Amino acid sequence: MSAPRSEGAGDEAPQRPRTLLVLGATGRTGRHVVALALARGHEVRALVRDPVRLTVQHPHLHVHQGSVPDVDDLDDLVRGADGVVCLLGDVEAQARTKVNTAFVQRLVPVLRRHGGPPLLYQAGALSRPPGRRLPPALRAVRATLPRGYRGQHEDNEAVMEHLVRAAPDLPWVVHRAGLGGDGPSRGVLQRSAGRPSVATFGDGAEYALRALTDPAAVRTCDVSRYRAAPPPQAAA
Ligand SMILES: NC(=O)c1ccc[n+]([C@@H]2O[C@H](COP(=O)([O-])OP(=O)(O)OC[C@H]3O[C@@H](n4cnc5c(N)ncnc54)[C@H](OP(=O)(O)O)[C@@H]3O)[C@@H](O)[C@H]2O)c1
Repeated sequence: MSAPRSEGAGDEAPQRPRTLLVLGATGRTGRHVVALALARGHEVRALVRDPVRLTVQHPHLHVHQGSVPDVDDLDDLVRGADGVVCLLGDVEAQARTKVNTAFVQRLVPVLRRHGGPPLLYQAGALSRPPGRRLPPALRAVRATLPRGYRGQHEDNEAVMEHLVRAAPDLPWVVHRAGLGGDGPSRGVLQRSAGRPSVATFGDGAEYALRALTDPAAVRTCDVSRYRAAPPPQAAA
């Protein structure tokens, strides 16, 4: 596994420091989001089940221990946050029940109570967006998934449906990420309604932070693709 992503080529200019609530901070995408947000000077509030699983310690990293279904101080977590990044995943739990949907159902009114900070929810490219069909190639891949992963996609689909139905007033964005491993950055991801790239978790994290505050991404459920490299300059 590569070191968590910090700054690198293609990153946008530093943003003003903000307070971000990160859910899933110990996960494969989450640890990159935390590292990148801290490198950009943000305050990070992380809800984690086991703080030992955090890979960084930092004066601007504020750790709250807890499990999503049991959090009874959601208002305290969200209060003062300028953005919420939700990178939760638990394949075993999601095979049994839609835990993320239950959480997002609780989160929506809390966001509203606290001025509607932007929410980035990371689903998978194989999760069907509301009102659309997956392209045949993605449907074929999805049909091969073990039952556990199907549960995760069904949960993510229910999250998207809930956001569309119950949060038409809030600035949420769902990234249907296609993530395939760690390693050096392969480029800059951009939002796409078409075919997803299989990106590194670090590049997915960088995209998540950018999409969180991208007005054009609000209330979309798109995938992402690597931006094509510019053509080589013609010889002078
Ligand atoms: N992995 C992929 O290839 C892939 C590809 C595309 C999209 N996605 C989607 O992206 C999202 C995140 O994926 P990921 O692979 O980055 O995540 P991950 O490595 O599976 O980590 C999930 C994170 O969620 C946390 N979590 C799970 N249940 C929790 C609970 N009840 N309370 C608090 N925290 C909890 C985990 O904490 P612990 O450390 O305590 O387990 C961990 O930090 C998922 O929705 C997934 O469907 C994943």
